[in-house]
Amino acid sequence: MKALDDLLGEGVSGRRVLVRADLNVPFDKSDPTVISDDGRIRAVLPTLVALRDAGARVIVCSHLGRPKGAPDPKYTLAPVATRLGELLGNPVVFAEDTVGASASDAVDALQDGQVLLLENLRFNEGETSKDDAVRGAFADQLAAFAEYYVDDAFGAVHRKHASVYDVPARLPHYAGGLVLREVEVLRRVTESPEQPYVVVLGGSKVSDKLAVIQALLPKVDKLLVGGGMCFTFLKAQGHEVGKSLLETEMISTCADLLEQAQGRIVLPVDVVAASAFAADADHDVVDVSDIPGDRLGLDIGPQSVALFAEAISSAKTVFWNGPMGVFELAPFAAGTRGVAEAITKIDGFSVVGGGDSAAAVRTLGIDESGFGHISTGGGASLEYLEGKTLPGLSALSASES
Ligand code: 3PG
Ligand code: MG
Repeated sequence: MKALDDLLGEGVSGRRVLVRADLNVPFDKSDPTVISDDGRIRAVLPTLVALRDAGARVIVCSHLGRPKGAPDPKYTLAPVATRLGELLGNPVVFAEDTVGASASDAVDALQDGQVLLLENLRFNEGETSKDDAVRGAFADQLAAFAEYYVDDAFGAVHRKHASVYDVPARLPHYAGGLVLREVEVLRRVTESPEQPYVVVLGGSKVSDKLAVIQALLPKVDKLLVGGGMCFTFLKAQGHEVGKSLLETEMISTCADLLEQAQGRIVLPVDVVAASAFAADADHDVVDVSDIPGDRLGLDIGPQSVALFAEAISSAKTVFWNGPMGVFELAPFAAGTRGVAEAITKIDGFSVVGGGDSAAAVRTLGIDESGFGHISTGGGASLEYLEGKTLPGLSALSASES
């Protein structure tokens, strides 16, 4: 695949370049206008700065959240445009639609070295449509804005969406530095992980992680499971989990995985059980065999942190995806913090995969330099580890039609 440097070498002064970024950032739970972690915006800055400084007219596009194919003010990229402007040191022009009059006027008025952000791609049904023709028509409109396309949205390369998959078929296309760096690291942990290899998985659903668990089990020494998904495994082991998250239809799958893993899947031995999903809820550390029927587990407990940290300490390679608990609420952050700190101490290579885990690291104030690599892609990095073909990457490798 061609890289941004190839494009810069060709000269882009005065050229219109469409950059697909993943600016899908989290917002503060108590103030939805405040970006709680701008890591994904920072991650794409080098690409935008390089293009801007080379005199390109830079048109940035991204999704935010999962609006249903129509404008929804809840998911506007306007606050992201403001933050991006602050980080770039120049205001960013913001178009109030993606391919409509506001966008096309803004594209026409764009000056050399200026940056424009289009409104949320997913305000258009063509972005995520399963119908090739519908996606293609939207991709035609996006592609008409620019002469070149750069994909630096690593977090979205696993999506067969118009801006990721169909636009590169219509324009000369290049991979940005973020995409290239992410792929290089993931290739390293997929093809030749130094042993012992420990994978830590959290997050809410087993069903989201099933494929990656199946793909990784034969390769790992230990698979540590925390987060909401651990309760379905605990239930499969015969524990009662009270009101904790449970995917009933996955219990027997979890039982099969535990059997297959022969001790290599490690589950929490204690959890923080709360009376409600709230920062001020009553909560206690309980043994996994004693979770009260009226409580829900919102974090792994201290003995589990010690158990996980012990397994992590001897690893040469660690891949971590998904928080261990509801780290956004202070009483339930210790599990994620403990595991993250243990990972920073290894004498080996660690990769943090995922928007949520990366945001957790920064939100909890853990030193980012302690990790080998912090990926901006959650689903994308998991699908890469599963060995799947990622539509965005194959589109970048293909020649345009
Ligand atoms: C993410 O946050 O995982 C990426 O931005 C992709 O978002 P999506 O899962 O809504 O496609
Ligand atoms: Mg996601």
